[in-house]
Amino acid sequence: MKTDVSKIETNKRLGIGLLGYGTVGKGLETLLEATASDAFFIAKILRRATKANRHDMVEDIESLLQDPNVDIVVEVLGGIEPARTYILAALNAKKAVVTANKALINRHGDELDACAKANGVALRFSAAVGGGIPYLATLLEVKRHTQIQAIGGILNGTSNFMLDKMEREQCAFEEALRAAQQLGYAEADPSADILGTDSLNKIRLSGVVAFDRWIEFESIPCEGIAYLQAEDIQFIQNLGYHIRLFATMCRSEDGIQAYVEPQLFNVEDAEASILANHNIAWFVDSMNERQALIGQGAGGLPTAGNILRDLMQIKEKTGGMLPEGHTKLVANNTKAIHPYLIRSSKTLKSGYLEALSEVKWIQGNRIYRITKAMDVSRIHALVQTLRATEPIFFAGIQTKETL
Ligand SMILES: NC(=O)c1ccc[n+]([C@@H]2O[C@H](COP(=O)([O-])OP(=O)(O)OC[C@H]3O[C@@H](n4cnc5c(N)ncnc54)[C@H](OP(=O)(O)O)[C@@H]3O)[C@@H](O)[C@H]2O)c1
Repeated sequence: MKTDVSKIETNKRLGIGLLGYGTVGKGLETLLEATASDAFFIAKILRRATKANRHDMVEDIESLLQDPNVDIVVEVLGGIEPARTYILAALNAKKAVVTANKALINRHGDELDACAKANGVALRFSAAVGGGIPYLATLLEVKRHTQIQAIGGILNGTSNFMLDKMEREQCAFEEALRAAQQLGYAEADPSADILGTDSLNKIRLSGVVAFDRWIEFESIPCEGIAYLQAEDIQFIQNLGYHIRLFATMCRSEDGIQAYVEPQLFNVEDAEASILANHNIAWFVDSMNERQALIGQGAGGLPTAGNILRDLMQIKEKTGGMLPEGHTKLVANNTKAIHPYLIRSSKTLKSGYLEALSEVKWIQGNRIYRITKAMDVSRIHALVQTLRATEPIFFAGIQTKETL
């Protein structure tokens, strides 16, 4: 069933039921106050029982949904449950829903979208990718008039902040991580940022918007920055490169390529100039033109900006964001080929790795190799095997052909 967006009254100030009052929840409240919004107001906030200490705060979802002033529900709790259950309850209560929850939409987007369509209300998630950058909104707009060929960029601000700090201050990985946590960029458990799974969630979600396909999680090679050491950064800088955590998906004659990995960029590449916790999110159109958006990829206020964008779309009756009738697909990286930098110890014996090497440097106990151009899936799998012996670091090397 098509979304019946007529359920939203456009000529009144719409009340928001806010689930979660953390970084983004408070950001939305501040943004609505700062802009003196005459379009939206926060009618009710769901908080934990011990924290529901204001007259507009409630501690159970039913009270929030039964409030006649709540027209749209904004979910910024994070996590899978109870966020999924609460969103289903909101949609079944015929409330449109806006969420910033990339993990949830990745895993349960189809179920939630079907529920939204069955109830004739919209489900939107622009803030799930790019924080404050209007990336998904742009992809939706662009694909109306051109076939998007490729998408990608630096989609995780925390790892970018760490890489930039390590490059500029020559500091250790652990010090960069501590600084990211102190500044509130990285969470207490930073695994999603440093293992690349946050970028994976974001590129996969961008992929379904751009290509109308969910690419199977397991088929997307995903490497983060967790194995990087300060010495690697110095070596990479001496080669004249900048390292960034890169995510991409693109059409090829064999289907869709998709991967997440650290990559080395030349100084003139746009990615190399992305500093601090910024993101770059680009797309390539049917004329092979690459267009990029750069900005704050996280933070309460920027992310609230994307939520407000979705609220406006709902008020203007634009509908949901997931395509109708999309299919699932396995990524095919056989034509995603570029050289790699691999650091191992002198003690690691691998004839296969040796055979792949084009250039080799020995620095103390470390060996740095640059490989022949390799298929992405193959090299990710090889490194996983070699890691049974030692914590190898590797990064793709960006070439003009891979962009
Ligand atoms: N932060 C960003 O820059 C950013 C950017 C883009 C997208 N997002 C997404 O936005 C969502 C929220 O992120 P955030 O950074 O705002 O997280 P956060 O600061 O941890 O805030 C989450 C809030 O939800 C509350 N909460 C969690 N479970 C609850 C429950 N069962 N009942 C009531 N309250 C509950 C938490 O309360 P307690 O403090 O009591 O646990 C906290 O106030 C996530 O999905 C995240 O991926 C965040």
